Amino acid sequence: MTRVVVTGATSGIGAATVRSYREAGHDVLAVARRKDRLAALAEETGAQVFAADVRDDTLSEKVADFEPSILVNNAGVGHGIDGLVGAAPHIIQEAIDINVSSLVKLTAATLPGMIKRRTGHIVNIGSIAGLHTAVSSLYGASKAAVHIFSQNLRNELVGTGLRVTEVCPGRVASGFYDAAKGDRERLDAMNTTGIRELDPKDIAAAILFATDAPAHVNVATLEILPTDQAIGGVKMKASDGTT
Ligand SMILES: NC(=O)c1ccc[n+]([C@@H]2O[C@H](COP(=O)([O-])OP(=O)(O)OC[C@H]3O[C@@H](n4cnc5c(N)ncnc54)[C@H](OP(=O)(O)O)[C@@H]3O)[C@@H](O)[C@H]2O)c1
Repeated sequence: MTRVVVTGATSGIGAATVRSYREAGHDVLAVARRKDRLAALAEETGAQVFAADVRDDTLSEKVADFEPSILVNNAGVGHGIDGLVGAAPHIIQEAIDINVSSLVKLTAATLPGMIKRRTGHIVNIGSIAGLHTAVSSLYGASKAAVHIFSQNLRNELVGTGLRVTEVCPGRVASGFYDAAKGDRERLDAMNTTGIRELDPKDIAAAILFATDAPAHVNVATLEILPTDQAIGGVKMKASDGTT
């Protein structure tokens, strides 16, 4: 049985991924902070659960002890997604700590066991905001770090048999925008686009597509958009406030 660790398992993409791996018969350790949601997920899916903040260094030991062959680094926050101006220093720090530092640390702690067992797959949840210009410099920077980390890690690990996949979603209907701290009005506007967003299950299916691929196939980067979303364009706005 494949052993899978999923971080950020209490909501959205993480919860859908736990469900999909359990339906496929895998042994799952689901990690997040909200204990009530973890208990419900354990009851529903039979996943093992562990309540922890990904910033807590003791999590690394727990995950390494589980000996996963798949680590899905999914936990993340949308701090600053509505713009950097006015973002408090602690919000900036949290975005980098949760989206980048914790992901790198957990991966580093998991790799030695994977290399020893000669089997392992790291799946990092990035974002289109890490690949393309958007109006979210802080969030985009954190996800761009996930992108180049994934690219370089693949290079570091070549020859070990380990695989690294980065999944970069566009707009997904999840708890993400509710959890993002910032200007309420702007977030509400972002929430009422009227488009058909991706479902977390769509991203879970992509993650399983990558990890189910034969061992000689490394699905490197997956960029997944709702059909109703596209990226690109040039911004122009007079700085005298007339437009
Ligand atoms: N939704 C989108 O449109 C979208 C687009 C591109 C990329 N993404 C990325 O997709 C990933 C999942 O987001 P989502 O859309 O599924 O959002 P979500 O519904 O808000 O889920 C985020 C999950 O991360 C967990 N989490 C947050 N901070 C944590 C911490 N410090 N320690 C442990 N767990 C933590 C939350 O659980 P607890 O609060 O219980 O800890 C929750 O389970 C994120 O990396 C996000 O950046 C989302």
